[in-house]
Amino acid sequence: MRTFVLRARAAPTDSQVLLASVGGDAHTEILAHTLMNAFFVAQAHRPDVVVYLVLESTRDFSRTLRFEVNAMHDIGGFDERTLLGKVARGLDASRGMGKDEERPVEAGVTVRTTSFERLVQTLAVDHQLFLMDRKGTPIGEQSFADAPCFLLTDHIPMPKKTIPGLERLGAKKITLGPTMLFASQCVVLIHHALDQR
Ligand SMILES: C[S@@+](CC[C@H](N)C(=O)[O-])C[C@H]1O[C@@H](n2cnc3c(N)ncnc32)[C@H](O)[C@@H]1O
Repeated sequence: MRTFVLRARAAPTDSQVLLASVGGDAHTEILAHTLMNAFFVAQAHRPDVVVYLVLESTRDFSRTLRFEVNAMHDIGGFDERTLLGKVARGLDASRGMGKDEERPVEAGVTVRTTSFERLVQTLAVDHQLFLMDRKGTPIGEQSFADAPCFLLTDHIPMPKKTIPGLERLGAKKITLGPTMLFASQCVVLIHHALDQR
């Protein structure tokens, strides 16, 4: 299983604001691009992929949406409108939730009112954590176990104060080269690197 966590620091947790923010400063299209590149290949989808989107621009709690491709009956199209529609449905399903509650949204999709830090603590129990960072170990030199989990952000960097905590949980920094890429482009290159093994 390959797991990707996108910490979307600018992404609104209000579904209407999220949809209206495509192409704006929040760049919510990044969420759709990340889902697209995690799940889809030409004329098919990849099995054994989980994506967590953590939306952090909120008045109450971060929303963590979990998409497990093997359990999704109808992924639908790979266009931005379809994929952001799924995100919006998850946000709508989360209305009125208290802290650290979870609700099903549709087959293979859940929403949880949990923070990035808490999510990663949970994942650290049974995943090998990797923080995507241009100053890390080259991906070609890294060995991978069965359950790698890759931590990415949107256009806003990972807060510096978060990084020691991630490293204490075992996260290792890995790089895809010196060029600053979009998170969704990192996902393609990570899949490619793992496909070669
Ligand atoms: C657009 S970048 C974030 C840009 C942000 N301004 C920053 O300085 O981190 C989105 C994500 O991709 C990761 N990323 C971008 N290029 C990378 C590379 N060459 N190697 C590893 N990770 C990369 C970043 O670490 C980040 O998690």
